[in-house]
Amino acid sequence: MHIAAITQPVSTVVDLLIRACNAFPAFEETISAQTCYEEFGGIGNTGPYYAQLFSKMSAATGDLQAFCAYYDACDLPDTIAIDESQYFSPKPSSANVAPDPSGENINVLHLSDWHLDPRYDIGSEANCSQYLCCRPYATNTDLDTDIEDPSIPASRFGYLYCDSPPDLALSSFASMPDFFNMSSVSFGIFTGDIVSHDNGDQLSRAYVEYEEKVTYETFKAEMRNVPVYPTLGNHDSFPEAYNTQNELDPSKNLSSNALSWNYDLLSSMWQTDGWVTASEANYAKTHYGAYAHTTAQGLRIISINTDFWYVDNIFNYWNFTNPDTSGILKFLADELSACEAAGQRAWIIGHVLSGYSGTNALPNPSALFYSIVRRFSPATIAGIFFGHTHEDQLQIFYDYLPDSTVAGKNSTSLRNTTLVDYSKPLQMGFVGPSITPLTGYNAGYQLYQVDAKTFSVTGIQTYFANVSDSLNWHTPVWDFEYDARETYDVNGTWPAGAPLNATFWDGVTYNMLRNHSLVERYNFLETKSSVVTKSCNTAACAEQKVCYIRSGSAALGRACPQSNGPS
Ligand SMILES: *[C@@H]1O[C@H](CO)[C@@H](O)[C@H](O)[C@H]1NC(C)=O
Ligand SMILES: *[C@@H]1O[C@H](CO)[C@@H](O)[C@H](O)[C@H]1NC(C)=O
Ligand SMILES: *[C@@H]1O[C@H](CO)[C@@H](O)[C@H](O)[C@H]1NC(C)=O
Ligand SMILES: *[C@@H]1O[C@H](CO)[C@@H](O)[C@H](O)[C@H]1NC(C)=O
Ligand SMILES: *[C@@H]1O[C@H](CO)[C@@H](O)[C@H](O)[C@H]1NC(C)=O
Ligand SMILES: *[C@@H]1O[C@H](CO)[C@@H](O)[C@H](O)[C@H]1NC(C)=O
Ligand SMILES: *[C@@H]1O[C@H](CO)[C@@H](O)[C@H](O)[C@H]1NC(C)=O
Ligand SMILES: *[C@@H]1O[C@H](CO)[C@@H](O)[C@H](O)[C@H]1NC(C)=O
Ligand SMILES: *[C@@H]1O[C@H](CO)[C@@H](O)[C@H](O)[C@H]1NC(C)=O
Ligand SMILES: *[C@@H]1O[C@H](CO)[C@@H](O)[C@H](O)[C@H]1NC(C)=O
Repeated sequence: MHIAAITQPVSTVVDLLIRACNAFPAFEETISAQTCYEEFGGIGNTGPYYAQLFSKMSAATGDLQAFCAYYDACDLPDTIAIDESQYFSPKPSSANVAPDPSGENINVLHLSDWHLDPRYDIGSEANCSQYLCCRPYATNTDLDTDIEDPSIPASRFGYLYCDSPPDLALSSFASMPDFFNMSSVSFGIFTGDIVSHDNGDQLSRAYVEYEEKVTYETFKAEMRNVPVYPTLGNHDSFPEAYNTQNELDPSKNLSSNALSWNYDLLSSMWQTDGWVTASEANYAKTHYGAYAHTTAQGLRIISINTDFWYVDNIFNYWNFTNPDTSGILKFLADELSACEAAGQRAWIIGHVLSGYSGTNALPNPSALFYSIVRRFSPATIAGIFFGHTHEDQLQIFYDYLPDSTVAGKNSTSLRNTTLVDYSKPLQMGFVGPSITPLTGYNAGYQLYQVDAKTFSVTGIQTYFANVSDSLNWHTPVWDFEYDARETYDVNGTWPAGAPLNATFWDGVTYNMLRNHSLVERYNFLETKSSVVTKSCNTAACAEQKVCYIRSGSAALGRACPQSNGPS
């Protein structure tokens, strides 16, 4: 394909892709459109992107092997060692201590994975055999049902296998005053994914723009004067997950990025809503939606576009051994260095989580991210927030072992990011639950109590809507699900004013290894108490969960036992 891409017109490469896809069932299985033609030509039309990518890929840096691994046909190349000196100064011992709690708290809302479905069809098959149910064409092939005679008719308020109908999505905001004082919420974060999970050939730029507009207008209206700090998710692009590095075509100006239309739209809405300043919006426009903003309370929020480590962004297979082809991680490290110098604390928000099972982020960029987190934790980074899995999950980052460096070329010293010292927890990644029930979950959101000066998380409550019951509702029913401190401090010894930091959660993982009912509880809460949760009540499953929780990068997550129950 590389040879074809550098010698043949784009149309020939697209044609080759369609033919290869039709010829190999394993290849055809990976596409999201109905047919190979629709995926690569037709409406989906991803072929020209592949033609561009293949022309740039290099065999020398392992790009071709890595892309082959994406199709499960090769092993992933080894995770590289990281040249940290390219990104930040060595870690001073002062960076190993978090500031003392102030004793005062603010409230912060965490929303994620909204996935509004404007094509949701009330009364259609809600328990279908396709990827996305509650659509006019949804059928259950086992039960031989369709929209005329659905086994479970799609409720107006949503179901386990469907994206969010408008009435469910809106009800999340409507429910909040029942649980907490909205005027006491200082700000919200939204960790991405607005657009519904359609097949590639059902999406268009106009559809993505429509969803983004209507969603941010809704957030603005519902949150009134409370700012929401957003980050871009893999579904907030067209084609889904595609983001191209500005440097991919260095002969052109930054604004010539193929996805500029999207960054322009998002950044202008965020600015209009008053969430970011004009200069921050301008930065986001030319840097894939990334920005850094200081809140009224003094917290630096750094929002990064995690599509640059997401496995489904095909442009991440260009220069595979460069962990930061887009520059987003250099931006992050520079921002954190500036925060450290200014004595300011920061949150990192992104969509795709960096670790856990290790199947979402690519190894090299998430290895560099791990190094950045370790360098600035726990002194400067006060918390990391993700979404993407739709589940309520945790990720702990640890220090490296003292002898974790390896010699690089020209007597440089590189970091082997897999040599982790699990006795030294440093930082937390909180993965927020989704509003969408897809796939087999309930809807949920979280409220955090956050130290007003240090911005460490001191409390978390989760609220959920049990969509299995939605056919009985006259209006969506939201409930309090659990309080993190109450549920997980089973020893009852964590000091009342102390943050729910990495030391606490690392302690919880030891409780989990000894007490499988605690793992079972975590496993149930991951799905927001869904009736179709698969049990995790075995030693093997407990070990896997704890391993995932302790994995902040893809290489660590991939090293966990892989077949011991639900992920
Ligand atoms: C990092 O350490 C692991 C474990 O010893 C080893 O398997 C791997 O090859 C090392 N990676 C590099 C890049 O040195
Ligand atoms: C959904 O359909 C499957 C068959 O496709 C069936 O096994 C399952 O019980 C159904 N679920 C519900 C909640 O009815
Ligand atoms: C809600 O919070 C605001 C701001 O903190 C406060 O002024 C108001 O008194 C609170 N209302 C109630 C009912 O507690
Ligand atoms: C880049 O932008 C500058 C300023 O707008 C313009 O003068 C220049 O011609 C542009 N270069 C290319 C290659 O488009
Ligand atoms: C990508 O690799 C090419 C050579 O293969 C190099 O010229 C270019 O600078 C690299 N770009 C990035 C962003 O890594
Ligand atoms: C190797 O190190 C020397 C001395 O620090 C430096 O002058 C030289 O540019 C380096 N070479 C490369 C290829 O990095
Ligand atoms: C977490 O908080 C406890 C209690 O304040 C403290 O002893 C510990 O050092 C903190 N851990 C981290 C990683 O900051
Ligand atoms: C959710 O609703 C279903 C159906 O009514 C019920 O069986 C289940 O117990 C409920 N789950 C929770 C956590 O309340
Ligand atoms: C609870 O106590 C056990 C036994 O001392 C310890 O292993 C665990 O880490 C503690 N849990 C927390 C959350 O501190
Ligand atoms: C084990 O976990 C369950 C579920 O969270 C909890 O109720 C119980 O107290 C725990 N037992 C011990 C000994 O910590």
